[in-house]
Amino acid sequence: MRILVIGTGAREHAIVHTLSLDVDGHELHAAPGNPGIGQLATLHAVDQLDGAAVAALATELAADLVVIGPEAPLAAGVADAVREVGIPAFGPSGAAARLESSKSFAKEVMAAAGVPTALAHVCTEDAQVQAALDAFGAPHVVKDDGLAAGKGVVVTSDREAAVAHARACLDKAEGCLVVEEFLDGPEVSLFCIADGRDVVPLVPAQDFKRVGDGDAGPNTGGMGAYTPLPWCPADLVEEVVERVARPTVEEMARRGTPFVGVLYVGLALTSRGTRVVEFNARFGDPETQVVLARLRSPFGALLLAAATGTLAELPPLRWSEDAAVTVVVASEGYPGSVRAGDEIGGIQDAEALEGVHVLHAGTTLQRSPAGDDDSEVLEGRLVSHGGRVLSVVGVGADLAAAREAAYAGVTQIELDGSHHRSDIALAAVEGRVSVGAQ
Ligand code: AMP
Ligand code: GLY
Repeated sequence: MRILVIGTGAREHAIVHTLSLDVDGHELHAAPGNPGIGQLATLHAVDQLDGAAVAALATELAADLVVIGPEAPLAAGVADAVREVGIPAFGPSGAAARLESSKSFAKEVMAAAGVPTALAHVCTEDAQVQAALDAFGAPHVVKDDGLAAGKGVVVTSDREAAVAHARACLDKAEGCLVVEEFLDGPEVSLFCIADGRDVVPLVPAQDFKRVGDGDAGPNTGGMGAYTPLPWCPADLVEEVVERVARPTVEEMARRGTPFVGVLYVGLALTSRGTRVVEFNARFGDPETQVVLARLRSPFGALLLAAATGTLAELPPLRWSEDAAVTVVVASEGYPGSVRAGDEIGGIQDAEALEGVHVLHAGTTLQRSPAGDDDSEVLEGRLVSHGGRVLSVVGVGADLAAAREAAYAGVTQIELDGSHHRSDIALAAVEGRVSVGAQ
């Protein structure tokens, strides 16, 4: 197949990397991509939010499939534009992507579909916020209604901080927010591939959202992840497919906005049962980096079957028994304002280690003018260009081995001022994660 992948992150690098391992062999293209993706695919300079431009590129390439990675192009209707020119797209329409782009819409769909989630009040004025905070008590959970790159949610026992975040949300143009009951218990991410009608779950993973060890500091896009989850109830996947994913996909079809792509179900395994924390309309980053490291079925065929409504015809997915751990190496300052342009070294040394591969996110090639002939050096210096710079993935026979491989890889990476968490998957390896114990 000729496949075009849209996006620039380590998630898209993981998608392209996994497609490159398919036995059927694909011709891979990416836009805009990154230097890591560029080693596996032909890169194209296209504005990923411009549906017409993406559709034109897909037509020019005669692509068989377009895979849209991030939420912003999905919310902007890029999948719609690709389908309009008759090319299968993996990713929901702008209307279906509202499951992620509007928290209040997601809550409404969950209520209609009978999906277990946190009780919530949608608020558009201060008095409603005060009443909702009173009703639920501390810890307070306040969420901006719209997309906020992982920074729209504040969970705090400090009422002043909760009110301050609520006011900041209300001050925006469409001023709308959600106040929720607090959910205790470990979190799980389960990606459910949907073709508008049928649902195929991948394996569950856990993400580490806070910037510091021990879940200290502010939320980020995600600092690391692992799979499998040895502490997870054996029937969780079946429960989530039957009680969450299928009813949601059916409700979206009933509304005339069928969901095609990844329904990312973020769950809390609370002492009162499994609850949905959030829906996303795309693969999670960095969970994708570990989930796809274990996939043994052809990935391209799975994505095409979802895009063409034929998931029911696909044989069951096969998975490796191995474990995978990824550790994100971030720039100085992340998740605040970050420094860019620092040279990155050690990727080859990391990848020379058994079970280690490195995925690019915020990297770029800094080309320097060369010699007398005014041409440019093709191989520029690899420098940082964003908050999350690399995802170092370790694969091993069990979580402890995978963790060791990932951290051995991280040790090889040279990047001035960078930071990473040192406790990814540690509690799971040490048997300290439990469900329903709170
Ligand atoms: P969201 O953007 O909805 O995924 O929220 C980001 C993070 O905030 C989640 O991964 C949780 O760690 C936390 N969070 C969101 N909602 C709740 C809740 N109701 N109770 C506790 N933590 C929450
Ligand atoms: N890993 C969290 C996210 O992708 O939203």
